[in-house]
Amino acid sequence: MDVLEAIRGRRAVRDYTDKAPSEAVVQSLIETATWAPSGVNLQPWCFFVADDRASLAAFSAEAKALMLGQADQHPEMARMRPMLTSPEFNIFYNAPVLVVICATTPDEMALKDCCLAAQTLMLAAYAEGLGACWIGFSEAWLNTPAGRARLGIPPEYTPVAPIIIGYPKGPAPAPERRAPDIRHVAAGRS
Ligand SMILES: Cc1cc2nc3c(=O)[nH]c(=O)nc-3n(C[C@H](O)[C@H](O)[C@H](O)COP(=O)(O)O)c2cc1C
Repeated sequence: MDVLEAIRGRRAVRDYTDKAPSEAVVQSLIETATWAPSGVNLQPWCFFVADDRASLAAFSAEAKALMLGQADQHPEMARMRPMLTSPEFNIFYNAPVLVVICATTPDEMALKDCCLAAQTLMLAAYAEGLGACWIGFSEAWLNTPAGRARLGIPPEYTPVAPIIIGYPKGPAPAPERRAPDIRHVAAGRS
């Protein structure tokens, strides 16, 4: 697949078929993700894979309960209440696989490296006919001792990018892009 087609055609997928990607397919996507650039080529990432839908549904319930508690303290989160209280809403959209990319070193550069690995993983998924979506809703929970324990994330690692993967039920709509704000630097400016 042409790289420009992949960049423009990839979508956040929130509706998945029952079919789960094989372990080999997931492993190959992760291997592709490691071809992302990283500062000084340190590759400071580790990939935690959860591939059991029942576990993901349980993780979703825990993450929603945590966010509901936070919504009580933060009025700006109140509009999320109906979604978080709905038993039907699964923050992982019933996807069969969750890959959490964690930074293995406690520095800012490792966070950037993991974000690049995440985008590479999502593009690779798209190229293989799969869909993916970054689930920021899970991040607060992933940073709790309980969330870390569920995924087996050690205390010295930082969860950065929770990415769900599965086969899309259909094409996802493409949200519009704003025209880029481009500012040319005048020649001779010092
Ligand atoms: C850091 C980050 C967090 C996100 N968190 C969520 C999320 O929790 N739930 C969700 O449905 N989509 C989430 N998304 C997906 C975005 O909503 C989506 O990428 C955006 O609407 C643009 O759509 P597109 O990816 O199809 O171009 C997240 C994306 C990013 C980059």
